[in-house]
Amino acid sequence: MAFSLSKVVPWGRSLAQYRGMFSLTDADLDRRILGCADGPASFNAEMMAMDKRVTSFDPLYQFSISEIRQRIDETADEIIRQTRLHSHTFCWSDEIPTPEALAENRLASMNRFLDDLDLGRSEGRYVVAELPSLPVEDGSYNLAVSSHLLFHYSEHLSEQFHLDSVRELTRVASEVRIFPLLELGGQLSRHLDAAIAMLASLGKSATVETVDYEFRRDADAAGSVIPLQPPSLTISDTSRTWKCPALGQRHVAPTLDVSLDSNCQRSRFACVSE
Ligand SMILES: C[S@@+](CC[C@H](N)C(=O)[O-])C[C@H]1O[C@@H](n2cnc3c(N)ncnc32)[C@H](O)[C@@H]1O
Repeated sequence: MAFSLSKVVPWGRSLAQYRGMFSLTDADLDRRILGCADGPASFNAEMMAMDKRVTSFDPLYQFSISEIRQRIDETADEIIRQTRLHSHTFCWSDEIPTPEALAENRLASMNRFLDDLDLGRSEGRYVVAELPSLPVEDGSYNLAVSSHLLFHYSEHLSEQFHLDSVRELTRVASEVRIFPLLELGGQLSRHLDAAIAMLASLGKSATVETVDYEFRRDADAAGSVIPLQPPSLTISDTSRTWKCPALGQRHVAPTLDVSLDSNCQRSRFACVSE
């Protein structure tokens, strides 16, 4: 099915937010980075301004600046309204204290992206492409990052799509980081175990790691909040099972190193090709 702009709810994040979501160090920023599903984030534009190179892949880039701007204008008010409605499910901070400040922050990132889009397209930094298949040679990148698509839309995107997409990302990059691991409803993705097991079957290692970035609390669409749990993660070295207090006992394939923060919303998934 053709990708439709009317299905996109544009909401782009900044370089600082990417650094938080993916624990990107200064050294990471000098790696050859692929951003998958970067959409209207200003990550690429801000990296370019620092003389660092990211190539972003997203079907959104087939549209013109005015088409994307129009879609942002059509959807922004509704997103802000929803954010106000569910404001108790967000972790507000000095940097972003209110839904209005959030909107301002996201719109600033998206404007920065739009200002960079034509130049970036001509330089090959914004590429029209769609998971589960990327037009990239094996191992072309040192690091692939992807936020707010895989695992987040688990209800809408099938397990097979997730397996194919995660496999594809590990084909094109030697390390892959994905955030968040929570579905829209706030629970750990139903596809995570299958993705980890698939990677293990390919001899690739995978970890679930805690990051500093935390903006949404565990929350479901109705706005209820699942209380944050005290740390009570258990890991058994022999059977390699782990237990998340919020989710109960879960199992992963042998030979994997798995750790999980008790506040699952702050975890990202990382996999390495070898
Ligand atoms: C919620 S946005 C996230 C944007 C950005 N990563 C961020 O966190 O600010 C999700 C993005 O996924 C893109 N997308 C949807 N389907 C995709 C696919 N099959 N492959 C790659 N990107 C896709 C959309 O166009 C949209 O830009």
